[in-house]
Amino acid sequence: MTLTDDQAATSSLAARFPPDFAFGAATASYQVEGSVDVDGRRPSIWDTFSHTPGRTRNGETGDQATDHYRRWEADLDLMAELGLRAYRFSVAWPRVQPDGRGPANAAGLDFYDRLVDGLLSRGIEPWLTLYHWDLPQALEDSGGWTDAGISDRVAEYASIVAHRLGDRVTRWITLNEPRTHAFIGHAVGRHAPGRHGWARGLRVAHHAHLAHAAAARAIRAERPAARVGICHDVADLVPGGPKPEHVEAMRRQDGAMHRWFLDPTFGRGYPVDMVAWYEQHRLLDGIDVGAVAAAEPIDFLAVNYYRRERIVSAPVRDDWGVGARVIDGVGEHTDNGWEIWPDGLRAVLTRIHRDYDPPELAITENGATYPDPVAPDGSISDVERRHYLERHIGALADARDDGIPVNAYFVWSLLDNFEWGEGYGHPFGIVHVDFATQRRTVKASGEWYRALLKATRG
Ligand code: FCB
Repeated sequence: MTLTDDQAATSSLAARFPPDFAFGAATASYQVEGSVDVDGRRPSIWDTFSHTPGRTRNGETGDQATDHYRRWEADLDLMAELGLRAYRFSVAWPRVQPDGRGPANAAGLDFYDRLVDGLLSRGIEPWLTLYHWDLPQALEDSGGWTDAGISDRVAEYASIVAHRLGDRVTRWITLNEPRTHAFIGHAVGRHAPGRHGWARGLRVAHHAHLAHAAAARAIRAERPAARVGICHDVADLVPGGPKPEHVEAMRRQDGAMHRWFLDPTFGRGYPVDMVAWYEQHRLLDGIDVGAVAAAEPIDFLAVNYYRRERIVSAPVRDDWGVGARVIDGVGEHTDNGWEIWPDGLRAVLTRIHRDYDPPELAITENGATYPDPVAPDGSISDVERRHYLERHIGALADARDDGIPVNAYFVWSLLDNFEWGEGYGHPFGIVHVDFATQRRTVKASGEWYRALLKATRG
């Protein structure tokens, strides 16, 4: 493609979106902030987990991360230079309530107050996630998400944050990817708090549903005009082979990963086929399945989409109770093995629109990891990431053309950051971070995103 063709392609993609479409980028507190022991912050489960030998790649932690807690103003300037219209960030609960209960820690809350003002003064809309997996360790020590009392704790935390920031923040996401947190953190143990057992994961998921509803009510009690959503990650699933057992396994995987979360969010209770499956495997002991029927309505659904997954039948295991597993993709994939499938974004949105009809949808994460070598001149020519984003934003435009009300899109991520158990080994940023110097360099994908956003403004 010549430069002009390239510009023309970007302009025609931009023309498919209205000028007020909320194009942005996302981060999460523990992945970017660093400064883990300042201004009264106390440990979260991710501090404990990452400091436990053998838990993360090379023992890497979020102690420094991208040092965003100190560099936030320069980072906001960078966002403004990129032309972002919205920024999705998460609040670190252990800054606001260092032990997860009781009065607010003013110094911790002040950080987000300044951040929100800084965003608004640059014309960037804050999208606030209350919980992106960094539970105060003190709460974990008294049962964490396996304890039913967690709902009250989440509600108390939500009202503190809504009280302080709700005069300026309209968009509220209660929980990020409860299914990842429940299963990878509490059943498989690859994420904090590193616990095991599928029954435990289901208990955590159950409490996440109840905590979301409690948080939504608490936010609305403080701020009746708030727009409240929850974030679910949804993959595009296909059977990994033609045999009926694989098709069945795919239905179960969909039931376990998607419907178990989406159905209660939309007030339908748990899907009956999965309740039967889990009862058969005695995985629901102690869970009052009827309790999730009383859902709190949402104003929008936040969806994280990354990949297609091929599903085959597999034995039920103590730490994976689905009877299904994901096999390697055969197509193009990113550096962490995720199969690239832009049409899947449209398919997922179509399905959610058809089956659940949320009033509004937002893509709150989409992005790709590649090794991103730095050229001798300091530039990062991440053409694969750029193509990944371009194709997915194209699929999003297709979904909008179909009449699906998606009004926001956030790249994961603004900055290279601490990718959980993978440490710093899987950069997702459109901005490169040199972790030795904390220097930021906009990658080619970031330059392209800037050009796209500029073109949407005409
Ligand atoms: C999502 C997480 C986000 C990031 C991306 C790659 O599951 O919400 O924090 O790790 O994956």
